[in-house]
Amino acid sequence: MSISTDEKIAVVGTGLVGRAWSIVFARAGFPVSLYDPVDGAVEQALQLVEELLPELAQEDLLGGNSPDQVKARLTSAPTLADALAGAMYVQESAPERLEVKQELYRELDQLAEPNTVLASSTSGIPASAFTEGLANRQRCLVAHPINPPHIVPLVEIVPTPWTDAKVIQKTKALMSQIQQLPIQLNREVKGFVVNRLQGALLAEAFKLVEDGVCNVTDVDAAIANGLGLRWSFIGPFETIDLNSAKGVRGYCEMLGPLYYELAQEQADPRPWSEALVNEIDRQRREKLPVEHIGTRQVWRDQRLAKLVNAKKQADQKLGE
Ligand SMILES: NC(=O)c1ccc[n+]([C@@H]2O[C@H](COP(=O)([O-])OP(=O)(O)OC[C@H]3O[C@@H](n4cnc5c(N)ncnc54)[C@H](O)[C@@H]3O)[C@@H](O)[C@H]2O)c1
Repeated sequence: MSISTDEKIAVVGTGLVGRAWSIVFARAGFPVSLYDPVDGAVEQALQLVEELLPELAQEDLLGGNSPDQVKARLTSAPTLADALAGAMYVQESAPERLEVKQELYRELDQLAEPNTVLASSTSGIPASAFTEGLANRQRCLVAHPINPPHIVPLVEIVPTPWTDAKVIQKTKALMSQIQQLPIQLNREVKGFVVNRLQGALLAEAFKLVEDGVCNVTDVDAAIANGLGLRWSFIGPFETIDLNSAKGVRGYCEMLGPLYYELAQEQADPRPWSEALVNEIDRQRREKLPVEHIGTRQVWRDQRLAKLVNAKKQADQKLGE
């Protein structure tokens, strides 16, 4: 399914994630209408995007477009109705609060043409929680990006029980066309796949520090210099499949009992106590004063861009 790049995309909510989405759609050739109810928010988003574009061009992250070509496809909409007029697809990136999404989706459903797809960037609220009573709820679903979506390509497609199969298909086709990499969940589950996996890892990371097994820096190193290197191009199943000459079956025979014992030890969830958070914060602030977080975010995104490019080059040389 190829979608004409004459079709209009609306980005509703232009904070961190909304403005990054606008780059993703515009660099793929789509005209993007940006709307945000807060005064000056769209102008600020457009300014930040404009500042970012030359750097993205240098990292070959504008799909061969010049910064000016991408910028020319972005327009500010004075009202929500203007943003939605003639839009084929809406990427909603409003704050992660259920009552905000519920109110906004009532408006979106009334204002958007019945076939316009309404996709939410929500990090973990199933869309059924804010679309149930809508007249055209069959066109709603979640398209959850990983921050920042103009560098990290994964998108989780999470349909509600009432999402039309054609809407899922169209959203996946659109994501593939704009060079994002969609995965589809078969049903709604809190936190979706990415944050469930991240949550399991974080729960154990907090316990390791709380129990004095090691410090924050060493937990981070275990991922950054170890597991994370493999995970940047193969997932946990392929990792274990390649760790035994007999594949996943051999790995499970060899280490299944150990992992079962670990899972029993790990089964008891613990809240993140204030004392533990204070300790983790103390260790992090020794490494990075809070006022340097913005600079470090820029550093992270620059490294991510280089990593994504290195992956592309390795795929071309060695095959995927
Ligand atoms: N920050 C992340 O790492 C991340 C990653 C993936 C998904 N998300 C999801 O993306 C969404 C947006 O998150 P963010 O980090 O960009 O937040 P943000 O606070 O940076 O931006 C939210 C924007 O929504 C605007 N807004 C406020 N009320 C609104 C309304 N009623 N209608 C439309 N817009 C409204 C705000 O003015 C702001 O510009 C959330 O659902 C979040 O869970 C965030």
